[in-house]
Amino acid sequence: MSSIDFEKFSKYSKPGPRYTSYPTALEFNSDFSYDSYIEFLENSTENLSLYVHLPFCRSACYFCGCNVVFTSKEEKLSRYITYLKKEIDILAEHIDTSREVTQFHFGGGTPTYYKAFELDEIVSYIKSKFPNWSSDAEISCEIDPRFFNEDQMQVFQKHGFNRISFGVQDLDEKVQKEIHRIQPLQLTKNAVELARKYGINSINVDFIYGLPYQSLETFKQTLALSTELNPDRVAVFNYAHVPWLMRTMRKFDETTLPTPEEKLKIFKYTIDFFESHGYKMIGMDHFAKPEDELFGAIKKGELHRNFQGYTTKGGANLVGIGLTSIGEGSQYYAQNSKDMHAYETALDEGKLPFERGVVLSDDDYLRKAVIMELMANFHIDIKRVEREFEIDFFAYFAEAIEALQEFVEADLMSIDSDEIRVSPTGSLLIRNIAMPFDAYMQKYTQSQKTFSKTV
Ligand SMILES: C[S@@+](CC[C@H](N)C(=O)[O-])C[C@H]1O[C@@H](n2cnc3c(N)ncnc32)[C@H](O)[C@@H]1O
Ligand code: SF4
Repeated sequence: MSSIDFEKFSKYSKPGPRYTSYPTALEFNSDFSYDSYIEFLENSTENLSLYVHLPFCRSACYFCGCNVVFTSKEEKLSRYITYLKKEIDILAEHIDTSREVTQFHFGGGTPTYYKAFELDEIVSYIKSKFPNWSSDAEISCEIDPRFFNEDQMQVFQKHGFNRISFGVQDLDEKVQKEIHRIQPLQLTKNAVELARKYGINSINVDFIYGLPYQSLETFKQTLALSTELNPDRVAVFNYAHVPWLMRTMRKFDETTLPTPEEKLKIFKYTIDFFESHGYKMIGMDHFAKPEDELFGAIKKGELHRNFQGYTTKGGANLVGIGLTSIGEGSQYYAQNSKDMHAYETALDEGKLPFERGVVLSDDDYLRKAVIMELMANFHIDIKRVEREFEIDFFAYFAEAIEALQEFVEADLMSIDSDEIRVSPTGSLLIRNIAMPFDAYMQKYTQSQKTFSKTV
């Protein structure tokens, strides 16, 4: 990566989507009817990717942007299982359950806030209704190392879990105190060792840059310590600061957040650090060892982006189960209710807790393909897009191409008649580079309170 003028770069800091979906969740609406959603479920034939959201956490990490319910009441957790089962029953009525399950993911919240026997109960129930799990299915769980024990790991082993993602965020004491998440390195090491002991050979660790009191110096320390965990994959997320949506983020004194310039320095250092430690950058914010299948996928141009980040398994029908969870089919996105009362009421009435979503237009479908290709592979094969969608790329995307000229002139990307290629330095601005292809961006330029900042 060539040397970077960080000051010049920081001017690109502006609100922008992270493109875990296109159209983004801001476009989800209630025009997508319940009956059409059921029709999509009944007619789809692809493999199944099941996402189960377990939203509960004990206490708030102030940076957290996830859909979380804070509680210390055990009955709330067990009551939720009863409702998950109702939801699974209704889904099984509308989905051909002989379809192969190629992915299963427990997300949260803190899935391991549940006891081992409860996790067992949930997975066993799903397997009883969706019995056809592929022998090489990706079966994963997000784990907060502060809530993880051997009994839970035994349940994961019993059900063939083969991936675990641990949340760490930062290893600096002052940062940990400020974000309200005290998690000593030794505690995380014990959790990683436990997973390794049970044969998990795909371990991911999450970090975040852009948190209060972080600087290049503190983050260098965090990265140096991270090698002791020896993860197979690392995610280093750009902190999405959206205090207008997330109350706990308002606890931060914004003057303690690193500047865009400092953040760029941190991330550039992070890339160099992991590349010099044998990892390869995958997509916008992930790093993987050469043995990892994500690494192979990027070489073959087969990396896909979805709600869980990056994956090699594209094309499956993602079915979201649980409060707020999002499903994705080739032609739609569908989101469950975010309100526990509404979630339960729908299920009590024998209906899925589907609340809103979007059915993709032809234009959405095309733009989704282009944006996801850029976000995953930093590259667009123009001829392939033209063939697949029967369009003249340069005529269709004339405005986007014009808007991208400033990035071309700054040597951050190249555009020729066959391909668009983002340079390694340009990859730091991949969200900015994807935005001109987003047909909905126009209406948000006036408003600041939409997306987190790109830098
Ligand atoms: C849903 S959390 C689940 C992990 C688990 N509850 C834990 O905290 O260890 C998944 C990851 O999202 C990331 N994350 C949460 N809030 C974020 C934010 N505002 N900006 C960027 N990343 C965030 C964190 O790295 C976190 O580990
Ligand atoms: S980061 Fe994880 S543990 Fe912390 S509040 Fe968010 S979901 Fe819960």
